Amino acid sequence: MVDDSPQRTDDRNARNGGGVDQEHRKRQKRHHGQNATNGRSLGSILNQLEHAIGNGHPNGHQNGNGAANGAHGRLTKLLEHRKQLPIWSAKNALISAVESNDAVILIGETGSGKTTQLPQFLHDGRLTTPPPRGANEEEKAFPNFPHVIAVTQPRRIAAITIARRVSEEFCGKTDQIGQEVRYGVPQSVSIPTTFKQVGYSVRFSSAFNPKRTRIKYVTDGMLLRELLADPYLSAYTVVVLDEAHERNVRTDLLFGLIKGIMAVRNKTSQQLQSVDLSSLEGEAKKKAERDALAARILGPLKCVVMSATLDAEFFADYFSTVRDGTTGQSAKVPAPILFIEGRTFPITTYYTTEPQEDYLDAACVTIFQIHRNEPPPPGDILVFLPGQDDIETLEQLVSKYAKDLPPTMSKLLPLPLFASLPANLQTRVFEPAPRGTRKVILSTNIAETSVTIPGVKYVIDTGVEKRKSWDPKIGVEVLAQVSISKASARQRQGRAGREFPGLCYRLYTEETYNSLKDATIPEMKRINLASTILTLKAYGVDDISRFEYLERPSKQQLTRSLESLLALGALDDRGRLTDLGRQMSQLPLEPPLAKVLLMSPQYKCTADIIDLVSMLDADNVFYNPASGRAEGTGGDVDDENRRGSDRGRFAHPSGDHVTLVGVLREYEKVGKEEAGGEKEERRKKLQWCKDNGIDGRSMRHIMEVREQLIKAVSAPPFQMDPTLTVHPTTTPNPAEFLKCLLSGFAQNIAMRQLDSSYRTIVNNVTCAIHPGSTVKGQGREREFPTVVYHELLYTSKQYMRTVSRIDYVWMSETAPQYYGRRQFSS
Ligand code: CDP
Ligand code: MG
Repeated sequence: MVDDSPQRTDDRNARNGGGVDQEHRKRQKRHHGQNATNGRSLGSILNQLEHAIGNGHPNGHQNGNGAANGAHGRLTKLLEHRKQLPIWSAKNALISAVESNDAVILIGETGSGKTTQLPQFLHDGRLTTPPPRGANEEEKAFPNFPHVIAVTQPRRIAAITIARRVSEEFCGKTDQIGQEVRYGVPQSVSIPTTFKQVGYSVRFSSAFNPKRTRIKYVTDGMLLRELLADPYLSAYTVVVLDEAHERNVRTDLLFGLIKGIMAVRNKTSQQLQSVDLSSLEGEAKKKAERDALAARILGPLKCVVMSATLDAEFFADYFSTVRDGTTGQSAKVPAPILFIEGRTFPITTYYTTEPQEDYLDAACVTIFQIHRNEPPPPGDILVFLPGQDDIETLEQLVSKYAKDLPPTMSKLLPLPLFASLPANLQTRVFEPAPRGTRKVILSTNIAETSVTIPGVKYVIDTGVEKRKSWDPKIGVEVLAQVSISKASARQRQGRAGREFPGLCYRLYTEETYNSLKDATIPEMKRINLASTILTLKAYGVDDISRFEYLERPSKQQLTRSLESLLALGALDDRGRLTDLGRQMSQLPLEPPLAKVLLMSPQYKCTADIIDLVSMLDADNVFYNPASGRAEGTGGDVDDENRRGSDRGRFAHPSGDHVTLVGVLREYEKVGKEEAGGEKEERRKKLQWCKDNGIDGRSMRHIMEVREQLIKAVSAPPFQMDPTLTVHPTTTPNPAEFLKCLLSGFAQNIAMRQLDSSYRTIVNNVTCAIHPGSTVKGQGREREFPTVVYHELLYTSKQYMRTVSRIDYVWMSETAPQYYGRRQFSS
């Protein structure tokens, strides 16, 4: 049985185990009188062949081209590991539960094997077998055939690393991830027979093969975008909604949309026959006809909801089905919930006796205490921190002090893990440390549930995270550093007891822990839903208040979000999607940035905006020297000013936005003309970053993003010229560039007050320029009476991050809906 109390006790005995405990209600088989495993066709034959070679049968046949040679030993080893996972013994029960139900809820502690194993089980259970189909005209309406299991992940790192891992488990090789397909353009054509069956698709990068890939790890955002292009998800047989407990807004939205698709695709032949089209006409009739066709040709879509916490009834009720009872009355039956028995070792938890003023100092001290006082490695340390800035500061501190360790002691290797880390650096945390070295993984809450890092014995929990929230009353979105919930604290703690008895150091007092909220409020109830609404509208949901949300957002939240879309011009005054709005929904960017990018040809600055958007995708470009901390965590004002001035060399008189583009342009030029090729260029770039206090890792991520953005906007439907700019090599023309920016950020304007503070124009929020801004560093705030800012960040007070000076008159020019004449004179 799974841990039956949500409270984890620290002295719990080791659990062994496996098996599945199900609260499983058998259901009649349906779907056109056949179950999902019937109908062996082309796909089935392919599947059997591949199954024998590629998966589950490491000693099976080799494929003809011998590509699997050399992978055998690795496969056998991996299979041994897989067999040890708690989920392994539940394989058959899981396959049959999914076969006989439309939706299944699967609960299991992090690390029990849900994400990596369940899709492979379902593939073995033939759930990737497409329904039989002929070649008549009707079937041509759906060129895709359902043969893929989609597994959604809230984070791109998780999607990529897990796909790599599963690909290896499939065929023993790490490099056999699906073929590179970027924005629909295949990059290579040679595909060995048995490989490429596991792929991924995340924002700005994907690797899958449309014909061959059977298991696809996708970020929830990418599946939403796929849904817009393919409203019946016709390539999929099963969608696994992973990490459901996180209640990320995109996963929550997928719940509703997938339930809608299931209602269409999962109709029985009897239900299909009883559909009465005669009362319908026009668009509604066309849609009903197409829905019926989808049900007949594509067959059912199944859904598995996976979660690491026990709060599952909620999901089960949402996916309940109405069945006819014996007494003739219909009854609502919740989806079955299956529990995977966990396996954890006891964890001892320590609290601090006093609240800590500086959690970075406290974390650093704790790392070295553990390293000195605990037995030498194996046994790695995992530290949870709120964001990239802190991670990098601590990384520098640990590296610095690690040099002073006595030579007799084992080494310490700090490794960062955060969302915008370049792909090749992300995988380093999963590799074992060199002999005699202890890894110190410095992570955001990515490592909380979505990825499992082997070898962790010690967890240090700072108790804080960065969380986006929005106040619909005043329409201000803030990124704030806040206390985590009890549920998060327990998940963090649990990371210590995966392979050995572990220790968890909470850098806060027990009283603080007791005062934490039980769980975080779902994003759907606390953020700006503009992007969500845009997706819904683009999907054809006209009345967003009637959509079947997993949890309904407040009316005020919906109204405010609608207003912001209206102001951006994404909706017309009757709430219908405009052409601009449709294009915005197709870009993988938040609505304001999408709008700015789409407006850029008018201001002749597409290249500049692409560069800006790429730079903004990294949390942090300028290094924080270890002496000057992020505000609110110990750095004093002088420190902050000094830190700002490090960036002075790049500071553009107009402020941060143009400065950022300038940094990218300079970075691009470094080492370009040198002899020595790419390697030398890379070396030179790295050195340049070091010399200029720029984060080389972020720059690499930015260049990846930029490359993908250029591809995306050059392709249909956008077909923009990504090189369009007035100044291709230096900084953009500030006036045109900032006016273009205002077309999406007219809500983000603040004005300087007599007391030197700033007030936002919308709703009068008092704020200050972030200490990391080039404006602040130069002490030039006085020259910035009116500013546009990228975001408000709340730490010790409200800070505007990424700030530029604007001319008052631009406001009515670019955003008359906000700053039209009437408003000024009133
Ligand atoms: O989804 P869940 O948290 O239940 O577990 P999982 O992600 O499927 O991971 C199962 C196991 O696979 C982990 O405990 C790790 O031992 C291993 N794993 C790994 O070694 N490397 C990865 N990149 C992913 C998983
Ligand atoms: Mg998982």
